[in-house]
Amino acid sequence: MCGIAGYIGEQPAGALLLNAIRQLEYRGYDSVGIATIHGGTLHVRKGVGKVSDVNAALRFAEMAGTLGISHTRWSTHGKPCQENAHPFVDERQEFALVHNGIIENYLELKEKLRKEGVSFSSETDSEVIVHLIARNYRHQHESERRSIKEAVLKTLQELQGAYAFCVLHQASQEIIAVRNGSPLVIGLGERENFLASDVSALIQHTKRVIYVNDFELARVTKDAVELFSFHGEKHPLHVKDIKWDLEQAQKQGYKHFMLKEIFEQPEVIAESLRTPHSAFAPFVPLSFASEPSTFTTQSARRYKHITIVACGTASYAGLLGKYLLERISGIPAVNEIASEFRYRDPLLENNSLVIAISQSGETADTLAAIRLAKEKGARTLGIINVVDSTIAREVADVLYTRAGPEIGVASTKAFTAQLVTLYQLAFALAGKKSDLPFDIIENVKKTLALNEHIKQLAQKYYHSQNFLYIGRNTNFPLALEGALKLKEISYIHAEAYPAGELKHGPIALVSEEMPTIAICPQDAVYQKTLSNIEEIKARNGKVIAIGTEGDTTLQKLCDDVIFVPKVDEIFYPLVLAIPLQLFAYHIADIKECDVDQPRNLAKSVTVE
Ligand code: G6P
Repeated sequence: MCGIAGYIGEQPAGALLLNAIRQLEYRGYDSVGIATIHGGTLHVRKGVGKVSDVNAALRFAEMAGTLGISHTRWSTHGKPCQENAHPFVDERQEFALVHNGIIENYLELKEKLRKEGVSFSSETDSEVIVHLIARNYRHQHESERRSIKEAVLKTLQELQGAYAFCVLHQASQEIIAVRNGSPLVIGLGERENFLASDVSALIQHTKRVIYVNDFELARVTKDAVELFSFHGEKHPLHVKDIKWDLEQAQKQGYKHFMLKEIFEQPEVIAESLRTPHSAFAPFVPLSFASEPSTFTTQSARRYKHITIVACGTASYAGLLGKYLLERISGIPAVNEIASEFRYRDPLLENNSLVIAISQSGETADTLAAIRLAKEKGARTLGIINVVDSTIAREVADVLYTRAGPEIGVASTKAFTAQLVTLYQLAFALAGKKSDLPFDIIENVKKTLALNEHIKQLAQKYYHSQNFLYIGRNTNFPLALEGALKLKEISYIHAEAYPAGELKHGPIALVSEEMPTIAICPQDAVYQKTLSNIEEIKARNGKVIAIGTEGDTTLQKLCDDVIFVPKVDEIFYPLVLAIPLQLFAYHIADIKECDVDQPRNLAKSVTVE
């Protein structure tokens, strides 16, 4: 939800900030803008559209100055248009600001500022911040040296909501940045420093970073970084080294990040199986966890009940996790959409374990759900991809998934990594030594080799306006995930149902025009799903089945079949996810949709 970046140093800021927002574009792509300071004057360029289009017209790299801030927007308040693009400036054009998040009391603040004579140029909530800072700066005592930091600290007392922002003043060689609920990281260089919503925007320049915590203000100059509480007390700096590099966040010859990430899945599984936590003894303790880690597989067995909270694809991994945890470990588990969980006063006790699954570790609703679980005395555990992200830092224990950076907005390899971790957790909780068999990697590779066949099927079916996805047992969460993949990147309507639910309504939709993707491997519910396919065929519905190789019954019955290799029943989800991802990918690509940055979406949803 919006990317923000800042630079202060000796190099031209425009080019560096342009690169930063290119890396952050996955967070939003409605409009972009940069502000720099040169010769004691603020220079602002901004426009509507994607970074490359806006840059072609505005040539950000030519902006003068070695100090600046930039923004790529995912609209919350006000449509994507020039007026609503960041950076915002105050009326005297002395301050410029970029913001990620939501100011919940902005209407009230806007009214107050209007009465003080301020006029607004946008419909956004963000603009109030810059006017408040400018007002608070000017109201400082004339006899004292005016301080931007003090003006910002005063402003923070008036703001409600979640935010990270960077602000600069035309006469000052510093960037003031603040975090409350939205991510912010500082990159440390030699005679230069960087700010960004995410490490990917600065890793090209430095691997030494400081994660700004909630309720911290950073004052960043060319040579120094200082952190303060919102009350102005100085905080210590904790510098961390990033372990991955930019290469991992590049397309490496693939047409899209999504395709590259789909093909990375064998390596993701291999990497997950190599991680120390596959042994699970004890769980990886976190030095910054709120309490000392006592969460071992032994002690974990005292939890009588597991609740999984997550959003989007992570939530479908969670639903699959419910099936796996119950089946393998025998502990009752429920899966809940985090945005529902957080507002329904859930019943939790101290023998409840609440697991948050999140690729980014920043999803606002998942974070709120974890905070609520802690408040209610439950033990929290994160299954998180981004190391040191907010949720990773807030849970009592964390299991890091080993997917590496995922850039495509539609999650693929992170989903697989989440599943692998859930298997490992389930086996550990069951006290079983067994882990995933290494031959699963070979079977995933064989499934990826179906790419060309799946592309041909996409050619055949891409005209369809609607799709049904069905499956039973663990194939049901996969159906949900397959339907989500298709709708989010190809904009085709797709609905998923437990196959047994078909006759309670959705079968009324079945016609030649509405194909069904039936997930039907040779597992315990195979015969049951087969009967549901028969029912669809009897009503002239087209069926594309995903089944086990050699299944001639399925071949005779269905219009098309994608055959995956036979694997141990419990591990089918790891191979079945792949055709679903590839089918959605190729349909979106054939339709010339923006696969990596689908309309209206963002990868990291840091607003609720
Ligand atoms: C967004 C992304 C999805 C993702 C969901 C949850 O909607 O587009 O791909 O599954 O957020 O994100 P998280 O980072 O918590 O896994």
